Amino acid sequence: MKLAIVGDSHCIDPHGPEPEKAQDRHHFRDTQVYQQQLCALIRDEAPDLMISTGDMVDWCSPANIAYAHHLFSSMGVPWLMTPGNHDYSGADHQPRADAPDLWQAQGVELHNRVIDADGLRVVLVDSHDSGVPEGTGAWLDSLAATPGPMISITHVPWNTPPLRDLILHRQPKRDLRKYIQSRAPDLYQPHVRGRFAACFFGHLHFQGHTQVDGTAMHILPLSICASDREYPEQGRIVLLDTATLDLRWRALGQ
Ligand SMILES: [Fe+2]
Repeated sequence: MKLAIVGDSHCIDPHGPEPEKAQDRHHFRDTQVYQQQLCALIRDEAPDLMISTGDMVDWCSPANIAYAHHLFSSMGVPWLMTPGNHDYSGADHQPRADAPDLWQAQGVELHNRVIDADGLRVVLVDSHDSGVPEGTGAWLDSLAATPGPMISITHVPWNTPPLRDLILHRQPKRDLRKYIQSRAPDLYQPHVRGRFAACFFGHLHFQGHTQVDGTAMHILPLSICASDREYPEQGRIVLLDTATLDLRWRALGQ
């Protein structure tokens, strides 16, 4: 089975009801050409499933959610997401209590889940607030009790020194309270360490890799390219063969 994993896309409905906010964020509003390149790439690859690492929208609103839903649903493949901070926060940057309901209205789930991908378990963890939902550790323990390969997909990287070092090495000014799972300091060692063949994250807007406790850790760059702004390695996605766990990166427009 072929799995496409795509990083932050920060969709904004260019005709939505908050034009001033959209103008402030025009680097993510004016990305239609890259959104179409992403569509073309996905149609070319025709993966069996596509999973977003979150920040599918730039801020949580019915218009932006509908726009992103329409875009992703136009690619011709089934898709899922694990939520990012922007998927939960409104135009004022404050978390919206109704975010899960707004996404659910489009049929999109945000909660912790495990997907069976031809024998590979794909574990989606909600880390949108730089923490994880109560009970996540016990849930991960229950998954690990069953043998077989697992990968994880979550927005914010696990809270472990090698990932902190990776982020600060690339971008020394990053506030790790936000860019690592600072609100889940006790999750990694007992509940995550050594359990996954690979872990995939978004959130940082650059591409990064490291190997931690036998697990390949991958930070995905933006899945689209910003307008008038350059993010490192932007416009790349990764394709995973669920049988061999081989990865293949592809850039938009190539
Ligand atoms: Fe983001």
